[in-house]
Amino acid sequence: MTGGAGFIGSNLLLYLVPKYPGYLFINVDCLTYAGNLANLKPIEDYPNYTFEKINICNLLAMQDCFARYDVNSVIHLAAESHVDRSITGPAEFIQTNVIGTFTLLELARQRAAQTGDFRFHHVSTDEVYGSLSASGFFTESSPYRPNSPYSASKASSDHLVRTYHNTYGLDVVTTNCSNNYGPYQFPEKLIPLMIRNATAGLPLPVYGDGKHVRDWLYVEDHCRALDLVFHSGSSGQTYNIGGHNEIENVKIVRKICRIMDEMLGGEPRERLITFVTDRPGHDRRYAIDASHIQEELGWKPSFTFEEGLRRTVKWYLDNEDWMENCITGQYLQYYEKMYSNR
Ligand code: NAD
Ligand code: TYD
Repeated sequence: MTGGAGFIGSNLLLYLVPKYPGYLFINVDCLTYAGNLANLKPIEDYPNYTFEKINICNLLAMQDCFARYDVNSVIHLAAESHVDRSITGPAEFIQTNVIGTFTLLELARQRAAQTGDFRFHHVSTDEVYGSLSASGFFTESSPYRPNSPYSASKASSDHLVRTYHNTYGLDVVTTNCSNNYGPYQFPEKLIPLMIRNATAGLPLPVYGDGKHVRDWLYVEDHCRALDLVFHSGSSGQTYNIGGHNEIENVKIVRKICRIMDEMLGGEPRERLITFVTDRPGHDRRYAIDASHIQEELGWKPSFTFEEGLRRTVKWYLDNEDWMENCITGQYLQYYEKMYSNR
């Protein structure tokens, strides 16, 4: 697996490693600001888990890793993943998301030629489809219309993966998932950022009019879907994964405030909500039609948003140290750059 020390990767390894004792999981991650090995403490001593600190763009190091472990499949999650950072610094997104994916595909192609057996599972986003108006859903045949450097870099990687199936016959599956939330998400993303700011009594910065809509999925539900697609998805297919859970941003922030008021007491936190200048190119609405994965593989989300959000808030409140470890000088610099004068 690549990117196993990030938010979704950590949750996925915590789910898969105990479940499949007969596999050897190699977590390849170069540990950017978003990667944190502390997330993986519960499984770090499992005999079927190991960690390799490698940048996926490093062809020789990755080639050596594939050969040493006789790798026969990849679940590819390593990426630069934050839209706001892609707007201020797109280069790293092109490097990791496009060149990194290309590097892995080349190695997968080599291995498949040698062994005749190699599955490449590419983990992607619904943001590749661009923005919806008030109605309609993204399906697997929706046109690609990315609007941010992040979504354009993920769209490019999706196209490369598709090409390696159609041109070279590589066994690939791609999943395009909606916004995830849950434990271990870096506090640059909406939900953990709001929980952190509300804990610290800081303003809760809602972009634009706050009526942008995302389709939120609890990360454990995403992990179950990835497990299913990796094991049972048809080669060359794309599966959209979503929560059937569309909510406006400002409503989420209000819900977080209410849950925190209930758990912690004190002055109502809604008073901290502050509308700030909108993100450039801000997609208005995402919504997923997940009927393909539901009909073919029997997957559907199991957590309601209320339940998932309560668990998430509680996790961050119970893991203050984890959050504090994210708030380094680098984070404060990022926060200052992104949120001052807005
Ligand atoms: P994240 O930013 O939390 O974690 C990314 C991980 O990749 C980190 O551990 C980081 O160290 C590692 N990484 C980055 N560049 C690397 C490189 N060059 N070499 C090796 N490792 C590198 O991201 P996430 O939210 O866990 O997302 C994981 C994947 O899922 C991404 O591909 C993302 O596009 C996709 N995705 C995320 C969401 C979401 O809501 N978070 C939704 C749909 C799809
Ligand atoms: P984010 O978590 O960055 O995910 P994405 O941009 O990939 O969907 O943002 C989710 C939504 O929340 C998005 O519409 C932007 C908005 N947002 C805010 O209003 N304020 C914030 O401080 C952040 C980080 C996001």
